[in-house]
Amino acid sequence: MLCNNAGINRRGNLLALTPEDWRLSFAINVDAMFHLCQAALPHMIAAGGGAIVNTASQWGLYPAPNHIAYNVTKAAVASFTQNLARDYAPQKIRVNAVCPGEIHTPMLEAGVKRAGRTIADLDRLVPFGRIGKPEEVAALVAFLASDEAAFMCGSLVEITGAQAVA
Ligand SMILES: NC(=O)c1ccc[n+]([C@@H]2O[C@H](COP(=O)([O-])OP(=O)(O)OC[C@H]3O[C@@H](n4cnc5c(N)ncnc54)[C@H](O)[C@@H]3O)[C@@H](O)[C@H]2O)c1
Repeated sequence: MLCNNAGINRRGNLLALTPEDWRLSFAINVDAMFHLCQAALPHMIAAGGGAIVNTASQWGLYPAPNHIAYNVTKAAVASFTQNLARDYAPQKIRVNAVCPGEIHTPMLEAGVKRAGRTIADLDRLVPFGRIGKPEEVAALVAFLASDEAAFMCGSLVEITGAQAVA
């Protein structure tokens, strides 16, 4: 099982970003996933199957303003997931992605502080009434990696407390 979860969020619209922001966002959010999948796939194929779970974002599906580098890299993660699933499903490699909404992690804390907002402000944006917890995303990742998800392949699973449909 391979889980590609590391990521960074360089905020800003196009004119606010440096080329280094753009390069680093792709290096960590996209290139690392490419290299790790290339390293792991031959072993999974030799073993007769495997599971890969990538961390995309709801912002890769529905872009939030002023996060162009992050949103574009997460759209790439989503497309990469679908492409890899399509290419390697015949070898029983299941590739899926989670697309979280607002989740209470150090990344989110940093963004909230920088924007001069509070967690309570974000809670109010979520129809479910609160932002998500890391363990709620972890449970979804564990499910997608498990044999319980045996027929899930190429799925982009949103976990947003209904924010994505608000
Ligand atoms: N928190 C959210 O609201 C949210 C929403 C959607 C998606 N995500 C995604 O979830 C994933 C986890 O994010 P998080 O919220 O826990 O953020 P975080 O900043 O708290 O954690 C990010 C993790 O990535 C690792 N990382 C960053 N750069 C690295 C590098 N160069 N090499 C190795 N590891 C590196 C960090 O060490 C850290 O463990 C990310 O892909 C993020 O984009 C987060």
